[in-house]
Amino acid sequence: MERFAFIIHPIDVRKDLSRKFPVAKYLPDALLAELLRKLPPQPVAHLTGIRSATGVELEGWFIFCPLSPPQLLNLPPEQVYEKLQRCCELAEGLGAKIIGLGALTSVAGDGGITLATRTKLAVTTGNSYTVATAVEGAMRGAELMGTPISMAHVAIVGASGSIGHTSALLLAPHAAKMTLIGRDTTRLEPVAREVTERGGKCVTVTSSVEDGLRDADVIVTVTSAADAIIEPQHLKRGAVVCDVARPRDVSTRVAKERDDVLVIEGGCVAIPGEFVATKTTKQGVDRPGEPFSFGFPPGTAYACMSETMMLALDGRYESFTLGKTVSVAQAEEMWRLAEKHGFKLAGFRSFEEAVTQETIARVRLAAGRKLD
Ligand SMILES: NC(=O)c1ccc[n+]([C@@H]2O[C@H](COP(=O)([O-])OP(=O)(O)OC[C@H]3O[C@@H](n4cnc5c(N)ncnc54)[C@H](OP(=O)(O)O)[C@@H]3O)[C@@H](O)[C@H]2O)c1
Repeated sequence: MERFAFIIHPIDVRKDLSRKFPVAKYLPDALLAELLRKLPPQPVAHLTGIRSATGVELEGWFIFCPLSPPQLLNLPPEQVYEKLQRCCELAEGLGAKIIGLGALTSVAGDGGITLATRTKLAVTTGNSYTVATAVEGAMRGAELMGTPISMAHVAIVGASGSIGHTSALLLAPHAAKMTLIGRDTTRLEPVAREVTERGGKCVTVTSSVEDGLRDADVIVTVTSAADAIIEPQHLKRGAVVCDVARPRDVSTRVAKERDDVLVIEGGCVAIPGEFVATKTTKQGVDRPGEPFSFGFPPGTAYACMSETMMLALDGRYESFTLGKTVSVAQAEEMWRLAEKHGFKLAGFRSFEEAVTQETIARVRLAAGRKLD
C-alpha cells in the first residue's frame, strides 16, 4: 500500500468555520481571520479505495491548514511555511511519503521549494497535471460548444503564472488567435514570445480583463486573485470558460445572468478504484459513516490531488513539481502517468453542479448555436 497526504485550506472561512463553530457566523472578519490563524493544522479526512489500473493500492489523508486565501497570499512567507511544515510532520506521522499542496498553499511563498528542504516527504504543487487537465478541459469544452479550436480566439487569464504560462504554451499551436492577460504586461511579454515560438498566432497581451475577454471564444482562467475577477459583462456570447482557479475567478453572477456561456471547472478528475473520503478525528482516526466532502462528486478529485496520488502509485516519491514554473515535458509526463494508472478528466462541473448534455444543449441554444 502506497501512502500520500494533501494539504487543504478554507476557501470561504466564515462558511467553513461556522459548520463546526456556529458562533463564527456572527464574528467580524478580522477576528475570524485571527482565530483561524491561531488554530493548529490537523488531519481531517482519510482517503481510501484508490486502485491504479496496474493494481497498486493507495491511501491518503487531507491535512487542514488553517489559513485563509488572503493570509496565504499576504502573511510573511515564514509564517506560512511554519504551518505547512507542521502539516508535513502530521502527514509523516500518518505514514505518508509524499505531500501535495492544495489551492493557494502552492501559490504562497516559493511554491514548495523551501518546504521541500524542511521535510523528509516529497513535495509537489500538483501544477503539472493541473496544466494538463486545464488544456484538455478547454479543448473538450470548445468541442461541446461546437467551437472549432483552430478558428477560436483563446484567452488565458493569469498567463504569467505557473499554470497559465504552460497552458498557453500547450494551446498555442491549436488556436487561431491568443490573448494573454495578467496585471503586469511586462511579465506577459516574454510569455507571448515563447507562445509565438511554439506556433501561437496573433498573440497579444493586456492587463485589462475586459479588453482581453471581449472577443474571446475559449478562456482558461487561472489567477491567484482572492476574489472573482470575471463578471457577466466581460464574456462574449457562446464563450467557453475553463475556470481552474481556487478560489474561482468567475463570479457566481455569471451562472445567474449568462445562460449563453459555458463555464466549466478545470481539473475535475475521475479516480480509479472506489475512492472515498471519510472524516477523521484530530488524531487521524476514521469516523466511520461520516463522508468528507470537498465539493466534488464521489470518485473524483482535483487535478493537483490526482498528481500527488499518481506519483505515489508510481512509487515516485520525488518532489516532481516545485516552484513557479511547470515545463511542457512535466505536463506531458502527467498525461503518461494518468494513462498508465487510469486517471481521466471527469464529466464537467459548473458552480458545483454537473454539466449534462441538456445543460450544453440549453447553452448552445441560448448562444444561437445549432445542436449536433
Ligand atoms: N483546480 C486545480 O486542481 C488547481 C490546482 C492547482 C492550483 N490551482 C489554482 O490555480 C490558481 C493559480 O495557481 P498558480 O500556481 O498558477 O499561481 P501563480 O503562479 O501565482 O500565478 C497566478 C497568476 O495570476 C495572476 N493574477 C493574480 N491576481 C490577478 C488579478 N487580480 N487579475 C489578473 N491576473 C491576476 C498573476 O499575474 P500578475 O501577478 O502578473 O498579475 C499570475 O500570472 C490558484 O487559484 C490555485 O489555487 C487549482
